[in-house]
Order: sequence, then structure tokens, then C-alpha cells
Amino acid sequence: MWGGRFAAGPASVMREINASIPFDKRLWKQDIAGSKAHVAMLAKQGIVSAEDAQAISGGLDTIAAEYEASGVPVNLDLEDIHMVTESRLAELIGPAAGRLHTARSRNDQVATDFRLWVRDAIDEVEAGLEQLQQALLARAEEHDDAVMPGFTHLQSAQPVTLGHHLMAYREMVRRDRSRFADARARLNECPLGAAALAGTGFPIDRHATAAALGFAKPTDNSLDSVSDRDFALDYLMAATQLALHLSRLAEEFIIWASQPFGFIKLPDAYSTGSSIMPQKRNPDAAELVRGHAGRIMGCMNALCVTMKGLPLAYSKDMQDDKPPVFEAHDLIGLSIAAMTGMIETVTFRTDRMRALAESGFATATDLADWLVREANVPFREAHHITGRAVAAAESAGTPLADLPIETLKAIDPRIDERIYAVLTVDASVASRKSHGGTAPDQVRARIAQARKEKA
Ligand code: ARG
Repeated sequence: MWGGRFAAGPASVMREINASIPFDKRLWKQDIAGSKAHVAMLAKQGIVSAEDAQAISGGLDTIAAEYEASGVPVNLDLEDIHMVTESRLAELIGPAAGRLHTARSRNDQVATDFRLWVRDAIDEVEAGLEQLQQALLARAEEHDDAVMPGFTHLQSAQPVTLGHHLMAYREMVRRDRSRFADARARLNECPLGAAALAGTGFPIDRHATAAALGFAKPTDNSLDSVSDRDFALDYLMAATQLALHLSRLAEEFIIWASQPFGFIKLPDAYSTGSSIMPQKRNPDAAELVRGHAGRIMGCMNALCVTMKGLPLAYSKDMQDDKPPVFEAHDLIGLSIAAMTGMIETVTFRTDRMRALAESGFATATDLADWLVREANVPFREAHHITGRAVAAAESAGTPLADLPIETLKAIDPRIDERIYAVLTVDASVASRKSHGGTAPDQVRARIAQARKEKA
């Protein structure tokens, strides 16, 4: 393509290090769409003739059909998707193909293609998150009053409901969706027409190409247009945050599926067995969701490091922007789908959850709160009295609710029979009625409201 200036061809390692076609072939649809919008605008502006534009556009359609049918040919000599397509166009329609690149550079071309690709990627993630959210809502609704131990420090803390716990993840997904929506809105400006870096002297219409490609407007600075990869970083950062959330639920599923917990049974479809230990049902899908989060974060980090300190405008380093985005997108898609599938099909052992909630003295705070409320005991003293009650229950090997009233009165005479009403796990969760609390009424209200929210 630059034979006019060069006498010798590239070294073979140069060919190899320089080529992005092995991975940027994934941009082919966006590249064709961008070129068609560009050539239509060139014709409308009288920069190329209507006949040439028609030949170019028809040729691009033929190439799209070829790629669709048999994939993009990977020819390292042609470097990237832009040149592979343009050289095929020349084979198909002859010298008129050479007019397509008028008033354009690969710098604005690739920036446009990549934005279009990331925009589609966001839409795919968004569709996946919608399903994930529906799965969480459905299972939360099913278990809106199922009591389980709530943990801090992974120590039994206070009883909560399973519905409340699942809805915590729904809140995370809601924030993730808003981050992707933000990223999409910011991305939606078209760099096409910025040319190499300075704009062009041809009388192009950037508003027309922007509109044709579904962008809200053209970008406003040609240097920034070809140097900016914020949109890819926004995507990776939103994906990282989402992956972190998924990894936490994955980790909980792994813990919950372990025999000492026994809170869930993961379906066969998301588990594997062992080649040596016949009893095994390993939570591999959850473990891989947990693992993929590390790789996705690595992709984000990779692009941050690529972009750090790059002078304006385009540098070839920026060709390395695509592999981490492609990789992260594949991994997050799998993670969302696997997590959604697990949520939809996991068996929750609510009897086991309830039993553990009852055995961990999880209503100790309720006892202390009762002393404050009913006997006007200062909280610090109530905490101390309750600690003695827990010690008594522990040595007797019973839940707090099974301690005889004499034992409790011996610890503090201000305790009376009414205490038993607050010591059950059901009473405990029902009492947590503050906004956003775990009381089943609150959980149901939040689920109903969440069903109405767009995201
Ligand atoms: N393959 C290149 C990339 O992905 C396209 C842009 C090439 N621009 C250039 N000035 N060499 O970044």
C-alpha cells in the first residue's frame, strides 16, 4: 500500500509483529459498515462519482457475503482487516476500489470500527445482564422468607433471608447495567473523518456518516478522535466490576456447595465429577467464573498499561488495544451465562440454612436489643448480659431460644418470658423492617419495585 516510498519489503518478523489480521478480523462487519457509510457520503458530497460509489458499495456487499460464508482470509502480508478488505475490493472491482480511502485514514477507520464493535459488545452484555437479573429476581421471590445465617467475617452474624441475600446481587447487577449504559452513551460519537490526525481538506460531511452508523454525533477533535481509547477502557472497567461481582457470588456458591455448609446442590449441568473419587461433585463452573474475573481484570490492566503515557496522536501500540477487549468480552459473556444458568437451576437447601441459622446464636443481637427496649438497659450492658447467655447456651449445647427461663433470669432478673418471642430466627428477620432491611415484607417490596425498574 505504500510501495511508492519503499524499495524493500518487510523482514519476516516485521510482517509477523506488524500484522493484526489474526485478531482484528473480528471487526469485519463494522469495517464494512463503516466503509459503506463513508463511500455513500463521498458520493453525496461529489467527492467520488455515483458509479464508483455504487461499484464500491456492491463490492463491499460481495465481500461481506464471502466473509460470512467462509470467514476472513488471514494474510499477514495484508496486515489488517482494513487492508485485507480493500485489496479484495480491488480484485473485485478494479481501480475504482482505490477511491474508497479518499478523505480517510486507517487511524479514523479503526477507531470507528472498534467503537462500533464495543457498542455491539455492550448491547450483548446488557442482554445477558437482563437475564441474570430476571434469574435473581425469580429465585429471590421464591425464597423471600427463607431464613439463612447472615455472615460477617464468614462467621454467623444475624439471620437474613435467602431472598434478601440474592437481592444484594441484584443491586450489584443494577449498578453494573448503569455503568455499561454510561459507557455506551459516552462511546457514541463517531471519529470517522478525523482522517490520520488533522482532519481533511475534502468537503466531507461527518454528521452524515455519524448518523448513518447510529452515532449521536461526530467527535469534536480530530487528534483526540484517533488517540482516544477511553471507550474500550470504559468497557473493560465496567466488565471488571461486573466480573468482581460475579466472582463473589461464584465464591459463595463454592462455599455453600461444600459438605460442611451444604446450603446448595449445584445441578449436574454445572458440575463435574472426579476421575478417581466417585463421590465428587465439583463446582467447576463457579470456580471458572471466579477465575475468569482475574483474567478480565488482567485485560483491563493490559490496556491501561498500553495507553499510559502515549503521546498524541496514533501510535502502533494502540493496535494492541483489541486482544484484551476481545478476550474480556468472551470471558464475561461465558461468566454471565454460566452464573445465570447456575442461579436458575441451583437447589437451595433451605432446611439446612435454617438449621444453621438457629444453631449459631444468630439472635444474640435480638436479645440485647430487647433488654434495651423493654428493660431500658444501656446497650453496652445488654451486650455483656447477652454474652453470658450465649456462653450458657454454648455450654448447654442448645440454641438461645431453648434456654430455660430460670437460666436466663439467673443471668439477669430483668429478662422475662416475652424474650422468647424475639429469639426465633423468624422473629429476628421479621423485625428488621428498616428501609432495605431483611424483613420479608421489605424484601418483597424491593422485588416488586425492582421488577418495575428499567435497569
Ligand atoms: N491495524 C491498525 C490498528 O489496529 C490500524 C491502524 C493503522 N494505522 C497506522 N497508522 N499504521 O491500530
